[in-house]
Amino acid sequence: FFVDKNVDELNSCPQVKQAAAYLQRGELVAFPTETVYGLGANAMSTAAVENIFVAKGRPSDNPLIVHIATTEQLHDIACDIPPVAYTLIEHFWPGPLTLVLPKKEAVSPRVTAGLNTVAVRMPNHPIALALIKASGLPIAAPSANRSGRPSPTTAKHVLDDLDGRIAAIVDGGPTGVGVESTVIDCTTSIPTILRPGGVTKEDIEQVIGVVDIDRALVEKEAVPKSPGMKYTHYAPKAPLVVVHGSSTFLQQLVNEKRANGFKVGVLTTEEGRHTYEADTIISCGQRSDLRTVAQQLYDALRTFDKTNVDIIYSEAFPNEGIGAAIMNRLLKAAGHEQMMEK
Ligand code: TXA
Ligand code: MG
Repeated sequence: FFVDKNVDELNSCPQVKQAAAYLQRGELVAFPTETVYGLGANAMSTAAVENIFVAKGRPSDNPLIVHIATTEQLHDIACDIPPVAYTLIEHFWPGPLTLVLPKKEAVSPRVTAGLNTVAVRMPNHPIALALIKASGLPIAAPSANRSGRPSPTTAKHVLDDLDGRIAAIVDGGPTGVGVESTVIDCTTSIPTILRPGGVTKEDIEQVIGVVDIDRALVEKEAVPKSPGMKYTHYAPKAPLVVVHGSSTFLQQLVNEKRANGFKVGVLTTEEGRHTYEADTIISCGQRSDLRTVAQQLYDALRTFDKTNVDIIYSEAFPNEGIGAAIMNRLLKAAGHEQMMEK
């Protein structure tokens, strides 16, 4: 279904009503959020949630985020909500911040992969909010990609991955942020960021002071507290290497591979797209505004999959602000393959 997110009365829009009816019947509906497209199911129904894992080919120990449209719905899902969580909600909801909270009994253990906590967020997207309200349900929704593929930022990406496996896609155009929400665990004495995302660490610190970062995000060996972070997500078909250093250094790496007969891709930005010579050069936004890089990163990775390159070299980005989320996704896509200029 195509839906214009700017129309009034989205709640009574026939496409949204039809999609809500599918959700009430336990079927799967992909819908836009401000981060990436989600694959929704009734969070209170174990059978409906099972369908998500089947459609995505998702490992069953990876819990889902429950999406809500009102703060009242929060109390159907979570309990013992600490004051710091309310502060975060006040500042960042609706928006790309997911809170991990103690879970209510009624939430299906399939949603939380058996954990006693639940991840909740209120997306900042008119279609997502209208759909959740129209269904009257909390909606469990991971990103609407096949497991191991980059998250979808357009309805076309969802169709490429899940055509024939789901009841409907609500097409609201490209998403805004482009990388997934920040996940923050509010059950620890100092809240802990488990996944960097649309709301930056710096944004959160401004509001609640000190926050921790899950060790696994900094140390390669540590076991992540967020089960999903241990999987090699977002991997493009060709091996990807993140290059720290000058464009001259990156070009040298490209030249060496090409001299050995390999087809080489370069992932760069508008600023760099004319400085390289390679078989495929893709720009993912402007380095001067890293939000544009977050928006276009996944589409760029998917575009490489349509080319015949044997290896991709990517520029690196500053590891702060939204750059932290970009580098986290890029390094995961690269399986942590990196080259440093001496
Ligand atoms: O922006 C987003 O968050 C998107 C859109 C659709 O809302 N959703 C998304 O969902 O990225 P997914 O399933 O791809 O990622 C959920 C992440 C995983 O890393 C998972 O391990 C973590 O949240 N998570 C879920 N429940 C958790 C819990 N109880 N404790 C710790 N981590 C949890
Ligand atoms: Mg995902």
